[in-house]
Amino acid sequence: MIYSRIAGTGGYLPERVVTNADLEATVDTTDAWIRERTGIERRHLVSDGETCSDLAERAARLALEAAGLAAADLDLIVVATTTPDQYFPSTACILQQRLDVHGCPAFDVQAVCAGFVYALSIADKFIRLGSAQNALVVGSDAFSRILDWTDRSTCVLFGDGAGAVIIEAADTPGVISTHLHADGAYKDLLQIPGGLGNGDYANNRVEMKGNELFRVAVTTLSRIVEETLAANGLERSDIDWLIPHQANLRIIQATARKLDLPMERVVVTVADHANTSAASIPLALDQAVRDGRIKRGELLLMEAFGGGITWGSVLARF
Ligand code: COA
Repeated sequence: MIYSRIAGTGGYLPERVVTNADLEATVDTTDAWIRERTGIERRHLVSDGETCSDLAERAARLALEAAGLAAADLDLIVVATTTPDQYFPSTACILQQRLDVHGCPAFDVQAVCAGFVYALSIADKFIRLGSAQNALVVGSDAFSRILDWTDRSTCVLFGDGAGAVIIEAADTPGVISTHLHADGAYKDLLQIPGGLGNGDYANNRVEMKGNELFRVAVTTLSRIVEETLAANGLERSDIDWLIPHQANLRIIQATARKLDLPMERVVVTVADHANTSAASIPLALDQAVRDGRIKRGELLLMEAFGGGITWGSVLARF
């Protein structure tokens, strides 16, 4: 059997930091409200001219270095993003050109905040089927570009960044199982209504039904955790680390409670990063790997939830 294993991780956050206090000056909000309802304290935002592929390239190069690989060793590039530099070519192709890689498949995956678990799951399957040996999987988003900065109910929640992993073929897992889901019945809970279908190019800003989405997120994430444990015959206590999508501290705490995991075993970056969409899990993973919390051999549960709605998990031994 061929499996995939995480060989290296990388992460990059844009230099510009915007605190809750900074937002108080531009929208009708308070630092106290944002902290209390979301756990967010600050976020990194792209500067003028800085794009999704800029962030992706920084994270990708760090992941390659950590894996001890050269870009030329890559035979698959998958980028999860909802904020590509251009409609096309894909951000994966732009990244491929920046890395001076030629010929291997490169494509984007669009599953909003669940994008990274979708991308990792797809890359894992390429490796399991023998179609790739060394895959670069990136979650990169410049979500600030698609926010309505006058809408306090959404603009305070998001940040920009990129995280990357290299997965390579291995004799033992690595990635143990992946679980992906979507339900378009909930498509109106989080969306950008404008687009090519209705010719409405001007209305390209995020809209969210926050309350309803919160409830659906908590229920759905609780189900995906149960599904992942049951599929692998695991007990809750077998999980060493929960690496959740970083949308809201209260949602993360609810999932940790479901797993009976103390918060010390949950990687939480939402205070400093806010919700970086597809980047949030690989950024959190990279942070906890680099600061020495996550060690080789430990069992990781990554789970995410996003617009669509989409949701999923990856269970992996690091
Ligand atoms: N600052 C101050 N007040 C705000 C505010 C802000 N940034 N945003 C909303 N409010 C106000 C609302 O207008 C409302 O006022 P009202 O009672 O006078 O009408 C009040 O705060 C409560 O709003 P509500 O939406 O009920 O708050 P909440 O406790 O549900 O928290 C969210 C709002 C958005 C933080 C929460 O619903 C959430 O996290 N939802 C999920 C979002 C998410 O995860 N999205 C990404 C998924 S990948």
